[in-house]
Amino acid sequence: MITGKIVGLGSYLPPKIMTNDDLAQIVETNDEWITERTGIKRRHVADGIEDKSSTMACKAAKAAVEDAGIDPTEIDLIVVASTTPDLVFPELSVCVQGAVGASENCACFDVNSACPGFIAAYNTAQGFIESGNSKCALVIGAECLTNYVDWEDRGTCILFGDGAGCAVLKATEVDASEKNSFIMRSSLSRGTCLHCENMKQPKRFEEEGFLKSTNMFMAGRDVFRFVVTEIPQLVEDLSNKYGFDINDVDHFVFHQANLRIIEATAKKLQIPLEKFPLTIADTGNISSASIPVLLTQMKKEGQLKKGDKIVMSSFGGGLTWGANYFVF
Ligand code: ACO
Repeated sequence: MITGKIVGLGSYLPPKIMTNDDLAQIVETNDEWITERTGIKRRHVADGIEDKSSTMACKAAKAAVEDAGIDPTEIDLIVVASTTPDLVFPELSVCVQGAVGASENCACFDVNSACPGFIAAYNTAQGFIESGNSKCALVIGAECLTNYVDWEDRGTCILFGDGAGCAVLKATEVDASEKNSFIMRSSLSRGTCLHCENMKQPKRFEEEGFLKSTNMFMAGRDVFRFVVTEIPQLVEDLSNKYGFDINDVDHFVFHQANLRIIEATAKKLQIPLEKFPLTIADTGNISSASIPVLLTQMKKEGQLKKGDKIVMSSFGGGLTWGANYFVF
């Protein structure tokens, strides 16, 4: 059977770094509180001029194409996940098409599934590949959440950072045990704990305080409780549905939202924390970019070997949550 194998990875993080001490100049907080509650020490922040979701997506894609060593004209599909596109159109995926030099025979579209956006984009690309409609795809997560957070809300603004990551998938003949397997779930009724209106709303100049209401709202404790209940359950459901043993998994590549969430998930699944690679201290939560940025770091550090069994999982606004099992 055919599946998309990851043959290249790349990421881009903007050069400006905001430390916890920098944040303490903006809101009443401190390094000790942030480190203890989240594991975050610093995050990269886009300047909104050189670095926006579109430009960061292009830079990550170029790095991944170079890593894969492919001819850009081979690329026949580009899917970008972003909750924070700086452009409504052209789509970020079309910006990437131009930047990497892909041909006009390349299908391009964007998806939004909040933090699990990379998982949604990855599975969509896999569907194109498995059905024979694509042979070489770029799957990207690109985010500029710092543009949307409420910088007066110390419970939220400390969590987020900006960046982008990209995986190159190539159609590869594999046996059934190496097929991409996934479960994706969502719940509007449980989503009131996390929402963010779009910046461009009608009547925004007429109603006082309207722009303020567009900032992100998060009831952190509710999100935390949801994640530490649903994500371990999802991973168990995935292993039961597709018949793999979670103890045989080499890497749990999880959305980097909070170190405590990852620790609680590892504990519930009874998996050693060492199997959960981390970027959280240096990136904060970069939403849909967090998994491809983490995969890129793992590859650079020599942690990824052909044949490694991987579970990736993410959760976020919607609420939406999902998990994949695949063989690298
Ligand atoms: N610095 C200092 N004190 C703070 C800060 C801060 N940055 N933020 C909150 N506090 C205070 C609160 O005011 C509160 O004070 P009080 O007890 O005097 O009222 C106290 O600390 C505890 O606040 P909580 O919000 O209950 O703190 P909690 O332990 O829950 O940690 C956190 C907050 C880190 C946000 C946590 O709930 C969390 O990580 N939740 C999950 C968030 C998440 O992962 N979101 C991912 C999805 S995001 C997406 O998809 C876009």
